[in-house]
Amino acid sequence: MDMIEIIAKKRDGHELTGEQIRYFVRGFTDGSIPDYQASALLMAIYLNGLTDEETYCLSDEMLHSGELMDLSGIEGQKVDKHSTGGVGDKITLITGPIAAACGVKVAKMSGRGLAYTGGTIDKLEAIPGFRTSLTTEEFFKQVNEIGLAVVSQTLDVAPADKKIYALRDVTATVGNRSLIASSIMSKKLASGADAIVLDVKCGSGALMKTEEEAADLAEIMMKIGNHAGKRMTAVISDMNQPLGNAVGNTLEVIEAIEVLRGRGPADITQLATELAAHMVHAGGVEPTIESARERARNALADGSALEKMREMIRYQGGDERVLEDYSIMPGSTLSVDVVAPREGYIVAINTQAVGQASQHAGAGRLSKTDVLDMGAGIHVHKKIGDHVSAGDVLMTIVGNDAAKLQAGLKYGLSAYVIGDASPWSPSLIHRIMTK
Ligand code: URA
Repeated sequence: MDMIEIIAKKRDGHELTGEQIRYFVRGFTDGSIPDYQASALLMAIYLNGLTDEETYCLSDEMLHSGELMDLSGIEGQKVDKHSTGGVGDKITLITGPIAAACGVKVAKMSGRGLAYTGGTIDKLEAIPGFRTSLTTEEFFKQVNEIGLAVVSQTLDVAPADKKIYALRDVTATVGNRSLIASSIMSKKLASGADAIVLDVKCGSGALMKTEEEAADLAEIMMKIGNHAGKRMTAVISDMNQPLGNAVGNTLEVIEAIEVLRGRGPADITQLATELAAHMVHAGGVEPTIESARERARNALADGSALEKMREMIRYQGGDERVLEDYSIMPGSTLSVDVVAPREGYIVAINTQAVGQASQHAGAGRLSKTDVLDMGAGIHVHKKIGDHVSAGDVLMTIVGNDAAKLQAGLKYGLSAYVIGDASPWSPSLIHRIMTK
């Protein structure tokens, strides 16, 4: 097969065969196809797109380039949830315990923070002693016994995607929806769940800026999932402002526990309950989404979701006293406020800048080897639609390193837009899509 022919075919807007896609993915992964030819093909795909068949084939090839998790050792319906990434998104720490308390099996492999967005595994490591790395036997045993485990990725999942993503990152070809969908789904399908609930974000802190773009991406991901035999649901949710009022590892664990105690912010409680309800419904525990919502709300109200969190922490070696005593997690010694320069309404928040403020304050990595400051992060005091007077504190950046706090402040200062216009409040859940 000839790579030049494949590039020319896509450049001219034609559909590639499965064999040609396979040739590209395998050849690029084993190093026989050089970066310059792969870059040219990716740009041709970026400009001309992929058909559904090409997209299924690309994600299937990337999926089978690595190891697959076989969850057959776990009884019952396994349901996974995936978020396309956001700021203050501690949803897994809440949906996991709710769904498991309702009887769904949640065998979850999660990631670390990426750029300005946080990662569940980093957050869980704020809990003293919590082991995010379990053997397969421990993982299966835990999910069979308590219905819930959240661990870091230990398998070599979709190495082809890793290589292709790294090249897309430096050739301005990340933004194509078929490429994004096949990249995400090649990794999700490796997790072995029977059903997948997607939380696709849109807004200033998300990869997709508009609801339409997010819905298109969700549609492609759902088609890939269905094609692979998975039940798929997508919730299009808002990321025009941070979720909840806490950003950063310890702060987000605290906020998640507060939600599980029934005292958390309304937005994160609503979204977490909705996503958990879809997991409960997709897992076949409740026959309708209405009854699943009721069940998820009850698991929060009767404390069973909080107890499920306690069980998970105990099983994974963490100090369960954290549920009653937040001071045993790493904290912060320094803080700096971002204040309103004038009176008015919060009309927009640059959510990416809030994420960057937290990242630079020490909660995220600027290079692969950075050690996180678990106590660093942001307290968000004002959200879109709030009225403020000059001098009101909009957000507080906390951490343990004065220079890092100043670096975070640079981003924090540009995060809020104050105007005179009557406030606009984005709705939190834009759309729900099921297939
Ligand atoms: N996240 C991924 O894993 N892949 C993409 O292409 C974009 C975001």
